[in-house]
Parts: sequence; C-alpha cells; structure tokens
Amino acid sequence: MSRYAQRARVVSTFELPKSAQRALSRHCDLVVLPPSSADLLQRFPPGPVRGLLCLLTDLIDGALLEQLPDLSFISSVSVGVDHIDVPAASAMGIAVGNTPGVLVDATADTAFALLLSAARRVTEGDRYMRAGRWQNQGWSPDFFLGKDVSGATLGVVGLGPIGQAMARRAQGFEMEVISWTPSGREVPGVEAVSFEDLLARSDFVSVHIARSETTRHLIDAQAIAAMRPGAVLINTARGDIVDDYALDAALREGHLFAAGLDVYAREPLPSDSVLLRNERLVLTPHIGSATYATREAMLARAIENAIAALQSQPMPYCVNPQAQPH
Ligand code: DGY
Repeated sequence: MSRYAQRARVVSTFELPKSAQRALSRHCDLVVLPPSSADLLQRFPPGPVRGLLCLLTDLIDGALLEQLPDLSFISSVSVGVDHIDVPAASAMGIAVGNTPGVLVDATADTAFALLLSAARRVTEGDRYMRAGRWQNQGWSPDFFLGKDVSGATLGVVGLGPIGQAMARRAQGFEMEVISWTPSGREVPGVEAVSFEDLLARSDFVSVHIARSETTRHLIDAQAIAAMRPGAVLINTARGDIVDDYALDAALREGHLFAAGLDVYAREPLPSDSVLLRNERLVLTPHIGSATYATREAMLARAIENAIAALQSQPMPYCVNPQAQPH
C-alpha cells in the first residue's frame, strides 16, 4: 500500500479556495465533491472517510452518519449546526466544529439593513422607480410613508452575540431595546422582558435565536397576533422559526407594517413561495454573513477545526466537546 493510501481522507461538499485546499492537503487526502443535486451520500467516493467539511445547506442526519463508520469529525462552515444531527454525532463519537464569533457584526448589519429597508420601504421604492411608476405620482405629503426607527422600541429575541450586536446598533439609532432570551442573560442597557411583553411592546421585533425543536414556529400566528399593530418583523436567524404563512397573512391583513427576511424554511426559496408576491416584504437570499472578510474568517475557522481533528487534537470551535479526543 502506498504512503498516500494510508492518509486520512476528508471529503468537502463544496469547492474550496486553492489556499485552503493546499493547507488541508498537507494533512489528508482531500476529496472535493463535484456539484450535483444527487443525494449527499451517493456523491461520496468509495472507501473510508475520516472527516467531512460541509455547509449549512448539507443535511447531515443520523442515517447518513450511520453510513460513515470511519467518520471522526465534521467541520461546518457556519455557526449554526441545525443541519447536523449533533446528538447522533455525539453518540457516535463524531466531533462537530463550527465557526462562532466571526460573523456577528456582518449578520447584525444585515438585520439592521433589513430593519431600515422594511421601515422606510427602500426596496419597495426601488421597484416602484424601476417600473417607471414615479412619473405618474410625483411628491405629495402622504407619498410612500414609512415607520420611524429613532425613538421606536426594538424587541430582540435571543440575546447571544448577534442579538447583542443588533441591540448596540439599535441604541446608536436611539431606539429603546428590550429582549427576551431563553437563557435569561442580561445585558446592560437592554431591558429583559417576557416573550409576551416583548411582542406587546415592540415596534420592531428581530429574531436572533438558534433553531431547535422548541424554537420552530416560535413566531407563529398567535405570536404575530400578539405583536403591536403596525409592527415590523426581522428574521436573520433560521427560516422556520417564523411561520411564513402566518406572516404573509398578517402583512396582507395590515396587522403588521412590513417584514425583512434573510432566511427561509426552504432554501433556496421556491419560486412559487407566497413571500415573493408580498410587496411589504424585504427579502435577501441568506446573506447575513456574506462579506468577503467574514466568509474568509469562517473558512479559516473551519480549516483550523479540520486540521486540529486530523492531528487528533481538540477542535478550537466545537459544539460537542465531549466527543473530542482528550
Ligand atoms: C451560519 O453560519 O449559521 C449563518 O447562518 C451563515 O450566514
């Protein structure tokens, strides 16, 4: 058997930049899967696989993990790991790495951009102009009115690092910031309130909580009905924390003024989604962390995690440290 045949094999589900490929290839045989719509496992090369580098769009469930008996680590280029069955991985002794810290500001910037766009109808105004409709109307006192941001109350759902960064941005815009977070964390300058109070008091609600069985449809029809009339909802966390149909209905009925979404229950958003036909929605294609520097930093963390695992060292950013070598 050749020297190379004995090297650990790592599969990447996506094309890596050359520099990252070189860094990883010093420690393993790297196989980059060609893009394909086929099932992830069917795209795997035959033979043992020690590590997996993946994206948040790769569904890594228990059934897939069972087919990979030699897998000892997964390194995801994301902070969220809800696409991975972490309990199953832990039970199989598979360490799961993620990329915390580096996408906090970029994601909070996206959330605040959506908040401003939804409040002041920026994307709606852009569409209006490009359709040549301004010519028929001109300027008038009640033309394209929106909501004031300064002086309004922002309710932050989930006060982790991104929720806190959102709160700081809102304070810079002289908003009052209140928050509900399951951990009960308190942050100076942010009033901790119950979920019900947050919905009842906020002019803007921004979601920054991780997806889990308990947060799925946290913002459902009942929660939306409990929001202030004319409020604005922002979601840059995970799509199915908000019930799309309930949101669409509340916007059409005029209960909510507008909403800004970066994440969707199904991604890419199907072209027949009701959301695409709603003028009061500002929609972006899951670009919360999409800045050059942030994506570079995320990839660097994922590579760092993979190399540590290949050297049988603990990953520096690991969500299930109990599954790591000690
Ligand atoms: C993540 O890393 O979980 C983010 O959703 C990427 O934008």
